[in-house]
Amino acid sequence: MTQTILITGASSGFGLLIANKLHQSGYNVIGTSRNPEKIKPSLPFKVIALDIADDDSIRSFEKELFKHTGRVDVLINNAGFYLSGLAEETSIELGRQQFETNFWGTIKVTNSLLPHFRKQRSGKIITVGSIAGLLNFPSSAYYGASKHALEGYFKSLRFELNEFNVKVAMIEPMGFKTNIIGSSIAADGKIEDYSAYRKKIAAFANDLFDNAPEPTPVINTVLKLVETKEPKFNHPVGKGANVVLGLQHFAYKTFEKAMIKNINKFQS
Ligand SMILES: NC(=O)c1ccc[n+]([C@@H]2O[C@H](COP(=O)([O-])OP(=O)(O)OC[C@H]3O[C@@H](n4cnc5c(N)ncnc54)[C@H](OP(=O)(O)O)[C@@H]3O)[C@@H](O)[C@H]2O)c1
Repeated sequence: MTQTILITGASSGFGLLIANKLHQSGYNVIGTSRNPEKIKPSLPFKVIALDIADDDSIRSFEKELFKHTGRVDVLINNAGFYLSGLAEETSIELGRQQFETNFWGTIKVTNSLLPHFRKQRSGKIITVGSIAGLLNFPSSAYYGASKHALEGYFKSLRFELNEFNVKVAMIEPMGFKTNIIGSSIAADGKIEDYSAYRKKIAAFANDLFDNAPEPTPVINTVLKLVETKEPKFNHPVGKGANVVLGLQHFAYKTFEKAMIKNINKFQS
């Protein structure tokens, strides 16, 4: 049976490329965008309206989704944006906006599909985190914090959903060429003391993004994850990712095994 894959933020960047690749590979793809009417005519897959930072939009989306399909096999949480700026120069209000989308929005969309996945007794949830969710960089405090929060949340959910044969995995890309900088929001304050450092960091970030590679390795990793029956949890992708992968994998695997062993002591 053809699997149905739902991907949030399918209008641009990773989401658009992943949706196209999965569609070409024969999957039934449903994408989302805050402005589907702007992109719908040019895309070969269905697009439903969804703003993950808006509760009403999530409720309408859920109703609309099940008009188009009886089942969802894979949810790819991809929608998100980048809030750049030094921590102290960023208002709490902007920091909250970052979390409303990247963290709470992702959790709320996931929650809306959990009853469906439990009933189905199968499914997969793949979330696009970031290397900034494993490590973090200057000028990225709230962005990295929102992605760290996703890592923590899904690590726990992975145990709980395993009971229902629902698999949970993350992908943590390094910097790749998408529209992430074009759609980013910048810190709203300036503190004189940081002027020289801010300039240095801006030059460093510009250089990083100007020379960022094309996102093909991310798209291929997502396709592989969709096709893997028992995916592991972390999937860092990009230059130097192997080092991170080695460290993360060793520490996490050891912990995961010990945790399962301890929990199983209490089996009824
Ligand atoms: N590019 C990188 O180097 C990089 C590295 C690590 C992680 N990431 C992560 O990759 C994911 C995709 O980003 P990208 O690089 O592909 O950037 P992008 O080209 O700017 O795409 C972002 C996508 O997210 C959607 N989106 C943003 N806010 C939304 C909201 N409130 N509700 C629903 N959809 C929303 C946008 O859709 P609409 O505007 O159509 O609604 C768009 O399709 C993000 O989670 C990002 O944090 C990117």
